[in-house]
Amino acid sequence: MDGMRWIDALEGKAAEKLPEAVHRYYRQGSAGGISVGEAVAAWSSYRFRPRVLQDVSSIELGTTVLGTPVASPVLVAPSTLQRLADPDGEIAMANGVRDAGSLLGVSSNAGTRFAELGATGVPWWLQIYIVRNRSITEQMLDAAVAGGAKAIVLTVDTPVVGRKEDDGPVVWSYVQPGQLRINVPDGDWTDEDLDKADDLTPDVIGWLAERTGLPIVVKGVLRGDDAKRISDAGAAGIIVSNHGGRQLDGSIPTAQALPEVAEALAGTSTELYVDGGIRRGEHVLAALALGARAVFVGRPALWALAVDGQAGVTRLLNDLTEELEHTLQLVGVPRLTDLTPDLIAPRT
Ligand code: FNR
Repeated sequence: MDGMRWIDALEGKAAEKLPEAVHRYYRQGSAGGISVGEAVAAWSSYRFRPRVLQDVSSIELGTTVLGTPVASPVLVAPSTLQRLADPDGEIAMANGVRDAGSLLGVSSNAGTRFAELGATGVPWWLQIYIVRNRSITEQMLDAAVAGGAKAIVLTVDTPVVGRKEDDGPVVWSYVQPGQLRINVPDGDWTDEDLDKADDLTPDVIGWLAERTGLPIVVKGVLRGDDAKRISDAGAAGIIVSNHGGRQLDGSIPTAQALPEVAEALAGTSTELYVDGGIRRGEHVLAALALGARAVFVGRPALWALAVDGQAGVTRLLNDLTEELEHTLQLVGVPRLTDLTPDLIAPRT
């Protein structure tokens, strides 16, 4: 592995440290693994049309997401079971993200209480699944507001959980009892109470906003018409995502979906983000040029957490940001706000 780019080597290094079941759980996609397999290559297939003779002596990387300042447009996606990567789990992730000046998506299935995450000082958004018993969701939202969440991310690509065909060792034997439900309020809940609601419509966006007083971001959009409907219903942000290939297998790569969604949101105030397969500064650049305000990384943050805990997470974000800076110089655009789709060559 000597001489390998650190980010490319991360998964292999993490695999050496993690139990096989945990490594497989993090890396897996749903069903036949088509979407998870295509995600990175879809970003790498974009070609740039760089500008030359531009003053790129000073590059501005800072931006804001829903008004929160961040040091760079590279943010961390919500994911579960982080205590399997590092004993401090979400706390180490939060500290690492904070030290990089970034923003953290926190899974509603996080293994750490929201209040403790808020106490790290990291700016964070709560990702929520709405469950059948609305009072459970309401109490979780209240806890997130009390813990200082700055937005609510509603994941909409999971009316049911994607089917996994991986027959390797099972991750659940590594999960401490109660860990997945640590943020679920005490109560005599049945499994059905906790099942994901599969009857949601865009009205739920207004309900979430009213309940929390926070901006609502909808995660898991792959079509322009859906994006428009969701924006019209009051969403403050949309994340183009196919859940890292863990939900509908064969759903299109986010790199392919992004331009259509950007076009649908043109002229609205809904902020646009994207995740899935983003592994390089060049991928971030393509995403921003095609209309994203920021990107989220999922698995690389888990690998970095497993390899070097809090410091690993910070390094990952800093490395991607440095690569983005370098790429902005080469493409001849010193300000993120000047990135435009004409920097990307039309597909032939
Ligand atoms: C996820 N993701 C996810 N998304 C979500 O909305 N709620 C969740 O609880 C989780 N949990 C989760 C666990 C693991 C192990 C992974 C790998 C992913 C999806 C995540 O937020 C994001 O959409 C993808 O991970 C982005 O793709 P990459 O960067 O992993 O390719």
